[in-house]
Amino acid sequence: MNLKEKYGEWGIILGATEGVGKAFAEKIAKEGMNVVLVGRREEKLKDLGKSIEEQYGVQTKVIRADFAQDDCTDKIFEETKDLDMGFMSYVACFHTFGKLQDTPWEKHQQMINVNVVTFLKCFYHYLQIFTKQDRGAIINISSLTGWSSSPWNAQYGAGKSYILKLTEAVACECENTNVDVEVITLGTTITPSLLSNLPGGPAGEAVMKAAMAPEAVADEAFENLGKNLSVIAGEHNRKNLDNWRQNHTEDEYIRYMGSFYSDK
Ligand SMILES: NC(=O)c1ccc[n+]([C@@H]2O[C@H](COP(=O)([O-])OP(=O)(O)OC[C@H]3O[C@@H](n4cnc5c(N)ncnc54)[C@H](OP(=O)(O)O)[C@@H]3O)[C@@H](O)[C@H]2O)c1
Repeated sequence: MNLKEKYGEWGIILGATEGVGKAFAEKIAKEGMNVVLVGRREEKLKDLGKSIEEQYGVQTKVIRADFAQDDCTDKIFEETKDLDMGFMSYVACFHTFGKLQDTPWEKHQQMINVNVVTFLKCFYHYLQIFTKQDRGAIINISSLTGWSSSPWNAQYGAGKSYILKLTEAVACECENTNVDVEVITLGTTITPSLLSNLPGGPAGEAVMKAAMAPEAVADEAFENLGKNLSVIAGEHNRKNLDNWRQNHTEDEYIRYMGSFYSDK
């Protein structure tokens, strides 16, 4: 049974333009689902939609929305209300580097909106639809920064931790239903966003050494859907996290995470 047969006609990728979101969009299209592509860059999304339609013979729909805006979900929910929705993934994130007190309040507000408020609104909305129809799947995206904490990137790390813990709990609540919920934690993944924020020197080299391709992340995410509630992408990331947990203190791990961006 492919994703369309199992979960429904349409999936929505919130943050689809490039990177992990694009890989997720292509993955569900390959499995026969029509795709709602959401992001801020409408032209790029339309190009992606066209290429997905040509390659996989499915329909696509583009919704331009900025998740930092308070009312952005009104349009998304309105434009998907008549579709047979069966999949959702909230992929987008927003972060800035610097100490908490040195970051302008508007940036904090944007991070809260993108990483917490709009995420929760979308998760809540589609989860209600899926549980009501007793059919559907949700994959949310966390980060290794959410397992520890993320000095010089503190609010982002806390937001990814929120996504991780909230999704894990809900995934457990949905067990033994026909709604599959999973959170996948990513380590370094080669996306345009990563490449524009890569730390310099040895830290940057270490980051790239462990980096995964977005397509490999998507493969692992979908392989685990319906089987595991919480997944860490990549053998290297799993081993690394295990090693830190077993052999180091919490304080050491926090300082290690801080070592990547202390020059930002
Ligand atoms: N890359 C990594 O190394 C890494 C590591 C750990 C975790 N992650 C997680 O993986 C996910 C994907 O990361 P990514 O590197 O692919 O990059 P990303 O910067 O989150 O971009 C993903 C997509 O989200 C859209 N987006 C970003 N901000 C948006 C906003 N305010 N409103 C609407 N759409 C928005 C972007 O398209 P538009 O510009 O068109 O809006 C982009 O296509 C995130 O949740 C991130 O936390 C990534």
